[in-house]
Amino acid sequence: MSNTIFFSFLGNEELMGQLAKNLNMPIGEVQFRKFPDGESYVRILTEVKQKNVVLVCTLHQPDDKFLSLYFFCKTSRKLGAKNIYLIAPYLSYMRQDKIFNPGEGITSKYFGALISEFVDGIVTVDPHLHRVESLSSVYSIPNLVLHTAEEISKWIEQNISDPVLIGPDEESKNWLSLVAKNANAPFIILNKTRYGDRNVKIDMPDLEMYKDKTPVLVDDIISTAGTMIETIGHLENSKMKSAVVIGIHAIFAGNAYQKLKDCGVGRIVTCNTIPHPTNEIDISHELGKGIQQLLQKLN
Ligand code: R5P
Repeated sequence: MSNTIFFSFLGNEELMGQLAKNLNMPIGEVQFRKFPDGESYVRILTEVKQKNVVLVCTLHQPDDKFLSLYFFCKTSRKLGAKNIYLIAPYLSYMRQDKIFNPGEGITSKYFGALISEFVDGIVTVDPHLHRVESLSSVYSIPNLVLHTAEEISKWIEQNISDPVLIGPDEESKNWLSLVAKNANAPFIILNKTRYGDRNVKIDMPDLEMYKDKTPVLVDDIISTAGTMIETIGHLENSKMKSAVVIGIHAIFAGNAYQKLKDCGVGRIVTCNTIPHPTNEIDISHELGKGIQQLLQKLN
């Protein structure tokens, strides 16, 4: 543990700083930039020889980051790093976990195999493991999956009086029921059919018995926000209070955040797995414990 050094990928400085501080670890200096022609440049300025290198790099918009991440890991190795660990609070490509249409590939596995080639261990938070039972079937390296359920329950208890939790699809049932139990709140699971990247249909049950409660929509990922917007549309006729939206991973593709704000939602809250103005639920404590656990196990 003593021989460990933390690095941040661009944009991850705040979370990395918090983690390094909590774990009392030194921070290394690295330059990530683009050459004028758009190619990626990486220069590691702190000695990594014989050290455990921990890189905090959340992986939304992964295609923009992948080469820099690869170059960082390969360069660390070349400079003598003992082990290289990737802390990716959001893990991308996990949603393409089956062949939905002929001609597709299971790209979650391809991506996992690529990362596993140059990283020695990975820590992530609530990856999209809906049809896949464990991260080990996607990543062949030691891995640790952390969960936000406890922190989300705490936030709901502290901020929302008389909530009813709403999960948008059957896949959210296991973890949403846990969040609801810890928050002492009832929950409903909706039925969602996806017709395309931005086109989902939600079937809403009768909400009469919940009409005095605050609807709290909880989902693991907010990407186009289509799922949330469609659900909020159904709530409009329910005479319930304005909805609170909680997402673990704040992707907010394109103008999704503005669209969600514009649809009359009461409050939008996310975990800090992806930096975003809505990050109100801090997972750095859990993440720090997880990193410590992985380092102790592997060193
Ligand atoms: C799907 O299985 C996930 O749990 C989310 O519901 C989905 O990724 C949300 O995507 P969007 O915000 O684009 O509707």
